[in-house]
Amino acid sequence: MKINPFKFGTVVDDPFFTDRTVELERVKEILASNNHLVIISPRRFGKTSLIRKAVRESDRKVLMMDLQLINSPEDFAAQYLRRIYRLFPLERIRQGILKFRIIPVVSLNPATNEVDIAFEPGAPPHPYIEDVLNLLEKLASPGHRPIVILDEFQEIGRLDPAMGNMLRAVMQNHTRINYVFLGSQESMMREIFEKKKSPFYHFGIVMSLPKIGQEAFYEYVSDRLKGMTKNYRAISVSVVSFTGGHPYYTQQLAFAVWNILHRNPAAPDPVSEAIEETITMHDLDYERLWATFLNTDRKILIGLTRNETPALSAKFAKMVRIHAQSTIFSGLKRLVAKGYLIQTGNLYDFDDPFFRQWIIRRRETY
Ligand SMILES: Nc1ncnc2c1ncn2[C@@H]1O[C@H](COP(=O)(O)OP(=O)(O)OP(=O)(O)O)[C@@H](O)[C@H]1O
Ligand SMILES: [Mg+2]
Repeated sequence: MKINPFKFGTVVDDPFFTDRTVELERVKEILASNNHLVIISPRRFGKTSLIRKAVRESDRKVLMMDLQLINSPEDFAAQYLRRIYRLFPLERIRQGILKFRIIPVVSLNPATNEVDIAFEPGAPPHPYIEDVLNLLEKLASPGHRPIVILDEFQEIGRLDPAMGNMLRAVMQNHTRINYVFLGSQESMMREIFEKKKSPFYHFGIVMSLPKIGQEAFYEYVSDRLKGMTKNYRAISVSVVSFTGGHPYYTQQLAFAVWNILHRNPAAPDPVSEAIEETITMHDLDYERLWATFLNTDRKILIGLTRNETPALSAKFAKMVRIHAQSTIFSGLKRLVAKGYLIQTGNLYDFDDPFFRQWIIRRRETY
């Protein structure tokens, strides 16, 4: 039985990873220097896949943490320390911990062979966060600098409003660690790293990850559809043009197209069929989502399904019957912040091309 060669949802590596040669090179260059790195992109553009691939291809120690799953400063410190235990010999860590101002309770979990860590509840978080972060710097050596990756870093303020200051105050003194910050809420990430008042202002080199180039993605898709039908070229072109090279949605659509061709190599229009199938599958989600939008946002979204007119033009305002441009502007900002729209320069487009298509179909059929 043939296996579907497309993958979407989780982190991808070879053979599901394509393109990004320039970005990989750049990431590796920065990690080889004494600088820190910030990678920003909308959701599911491939930040995590990119950084994982870059570090996997190095032989350095990597400490990776997803802040979405952390719920307090204590938890941050405990999870960080747990990961240090995966990287260095027990005895060296023990020597370091004995010098902590607040010594945590460390117990070996025999089921997982990992340590569980508990800091005394109620103690102010500053000292143990500082001690834990400094421990890694002390364990590192100049020739073997670890890489610390903090994913979904825009969540930092949720843990504690003072968390940014706390981390910055300690990290800025470290010379043996490369810090990498990933984030998908562009405006929050830019606030953190590009606003003068922010503690992380200019802390690292900021890289924006774009979609994958349509040509490179065409190669990837057509290579995998080649054996399925003689029309594979035209089919691959329609796949990448429908998704515009969005990494996740391209893999999702190609996955569905492959299944259709696998069932019926003579399917007359597998791309439309796959789009239809995907929209039907998500119909209920889209309906629920639609119900949550303000009327202004609905007008804007509907206007954007007719994509010839730029959203910030007088023509657009007239078309969607919203008279104040400022209302459109704040609606667009809101929709970008929530991840429904993607902004490129002055242009706005749907994040999810299937949702866009759902709106079009619904308006045509009812
Ligand atoms: N280089 C790539 N080549 C092909 N597909 C990719 C690539 N990078 C990402 N993808 C596709 O996008 C999906 C999401 O990738 P990933 O989880 O790395 O993105 P992310 O930006 O970290 O997402 P999130 O914002 O949800 O954390 C993958 O499952 C895969 O389908
Ligand atoms: Mg990610």
